[in-house]
Amino acid sequence: KMEAFVDSLLQKMTLEEKLGQLTLFSSSWDITGPITNNNYVEDVKKGKVGAIFNAYSADFTYRLQKENMENTRLSIPLLFGYDVIHGHWTTFPIPLAEACSWDLEWIEKSARIAAIEATSEGLHWTFAPMVDIARDPRWGRIAEGAGEDIFLGCEIAKARVHGFQGDDLSKTNTMLACAKHYAAYGVAQAGRDYHTVDISNRELWGTYMPPFKAALNAGVATFMTSFNELDGTPCTGNEYLLDDVLRKKWHFDGFVVTDYTSIMEMTEHGNVKDEKEAGEVAINAGVDMDMQSGIFNDYLPTSVEEGKVLTSRINEAVRQILKMKYRLGLFEDPYKYSDVKRAKKTLMKPEFIKASRELAKRSIVLLKNEDQILPLDKNIKKLALIGPYVKNRRDLVGTWSGAGKWEKAVTVMEGIEKAVSRKTEILYAEGCKLFGDDRSGFDNAVATAKEADVVVLMVGEPHDWSGEAASRTDLELPGVQPELVKEIVKTGKPVVMVMMNGRPLTIDWEAANVPAIVEAWHLGVQAGPAVADVLFGDYNPSAKLTVTFPRNVGQIPIYYNMKHTGRPMDPNQKFTSKYLDCPNTPLYPFGFGLSYTTFDYSAVELNKTTMGANDQIIAKVKVSNTGKYDGEEVVQLYIQDLVGSVTRPVKELKGFKKVFIPKGESVEVEFTITAEDLAFYRKDMSYGVEKGDFKVFIGTSSQEVQESQFTLTQTAPIAEK
Ligand code: IFM
Repeated sequence: KMEAFVDSLLQKMTLEEKLGQLTLFSSSWDITGPITNNNYVEDVKKGKVGAIFNAYSADFTYRLQKENMENTRLSIPLLFGYDVIHGHWTTFPIPLAEACSWDLEWIEKSARIAAIEATSEGLHWTFAPMVDIARDPRWGRIAEGAGEDIFLGCEIAKARVHGFQGDDLSKTNTMLACAKHYAAYGVAQAGRDYHTVDISNRELWGTYMPPFKAALNAGVATFMTSFNELDGTPCTGNEYLLDDVLRKKWHFDGFVVTDYTSIMEMTEHGNVKDEKEAGEVAINAGVDMDMQSGIFNDYLPTSVEEGKVLTSRINEAVRQILKMKYRLGLFEDPYKYSDVKRAKKTLMKPEFIKASRELAKRSIVLLKNEDQILPLDKNIKKLALIGPYVKNRRDLVGTWSGAGKWEKAVTVMEGIEKAVSRKTEILYAEGCKLFGDDRSGFDNAVATAKEADVVVLMVGEPHDWSGEAASRTDLELPGVQPELVKEIVKTGKPVVMVMMNGRPLTIDWEAANVPAIVEAWHLGVQAGPAVADVLFGDYNPSAKLTVTFPRNVGQIPIYYNMKHTGRPMDPNQKFTSKYLDCPNTPLYPFGFGLSYTTFDYSAVELNKTTMGANDQIIAKVKVSNTGKYDGEEVVQLYIQDLVGSVTRPVKELKGFKKVFIPKGESVEVEFTITAEDLAFYRKDMSYGVEKGDFKVFIGTSSQEVQESQFTLTQTAPIAEK
């Protein structure tokens, strides 16, 4: 039925009307690049645009849709898109933070709530999830993804797609998701945003493509091209990625949108001579929708006339877009998402705010807790709250919080005031700003610290120091914050440093000298209460880093599943792989995060030590809660292929289970290992397994593990996931 409807509509359309459907323009808000069109409302009325982004609210989208329906010849409904990245009005933790919860149910739920809110404001489409694997914390967009790991990245990609899209796109509370940025956007040289990417085909397929495939398998409706080039061709004009892989190999049945003006930007990349050629290269490569450059509208009529672009290719692109509009139910009722009453009842509902707090506390990683300073006693006599994040509201929600109501965010001061008993006196000093070199608040901060029994030091990055176009070369706490930390530590008081930031920071000095460190990230509207929940032990922290913390910028890129070298590090031998001035190990590894309790792992038990390619092995450990608190533990499974036709990583995450263990009790955790977990792109780039020995590691982080070993007896091809 849908196909027939779309085909009959296509037959009625002029070339100009078709190109309008292939064009996405921004309203005048939230601009993140060049402005190419000055009057989007006029463009809508003239049928020059099939989709609008950066426009929301039930009322506004209704009015714009009306202009479109009443003024265009065929009245094809507009599609409204927006960057709903980590919540809509109710902001949740930034994606990197929520990934640290390793809690797929909660991650899916936060996307679900974001979709419920966003659709009530007339939005049909989010430009999320960002599924780029990122291993360079200099790159600000690391905040928007799930971190450095492939397996976890795939699981989170699926959860977020399900969350946004639900099980039926025609429901008014589900929206199209978008897997971005296709592909390898996270590998920008030196972490500088939009910069060149040059990686091997093996790395592309082994590391960067799997989360896109996982999103596709989960039914993601759209893909966004990336700004970067890959092997000399910008991804927006990359036929290999868009046509050979996405359409022909993966059979993608949705549409591809560009990232912003990336068609136009090919003229800067220098792979085309002008905008007209850029449009031809993009559409012929497989782009379906041009975001913001207007090039399809402006140049494709001539290109079609000249035979440089086939009408059949344009029809294909239009068909994909119309099909999505159909699936959303827009042809039945173009206004069905724009419902003022629903919006009023939906936005920032108490249950959504509660959910944000739940996920926020689950995203906080405890990095250090010397002498069990934490959790703090709620009856503490004098508690000093020091630092630029204590009363900060604006920055709590982090990057890309679009419609997010940062004004409604609850500060750490407010969160802690509510948590402590009446007997506690709270002292406060800002100390310094988040950035800049003003040290005039230091003396007061030191005096305040000296008066207190315990100091909570709230430091971090401003919200817009991570995210798009927010690369850094220095990853210390910005401004004079590192100096403030030193001054406060010098007082000799027990200090808990809580960080709110969008990427791993280099905190080597702090890790050695501050007794307790909490990585709280940018947590969203409920940041304050969530931090209080953790500091005072109402929630026992369970999050684990999904990205490695380097000791210094010189170690980057540093990630847990690296390769061996031919000259493994030996401190006593000069000619081995190491630094003269820094260990090879990270400050905090992938998978690391403490709890207020302690967990003990038994040896790994395997039910057998050999397996064939169609067989499976069960790996089992007993995890005991040996501390004083009930707690949750993320039990992690890693595998190492000891010898391969190509070199293999030192270990790779292949499973995890988050388990709740009451104090004094134990649970058995089992993983089933199949050939799928052992497969990789072999020497000839075929996907499969190779017989040989494998190590199995199970543990509490990528470094602290128990190990065992088994043998795979067969070499065999495996279907790619
Ligand atoms: O979705 C974003 C993308 O991630 C970066 N450039 C702008 C797009 C639309 O806002």
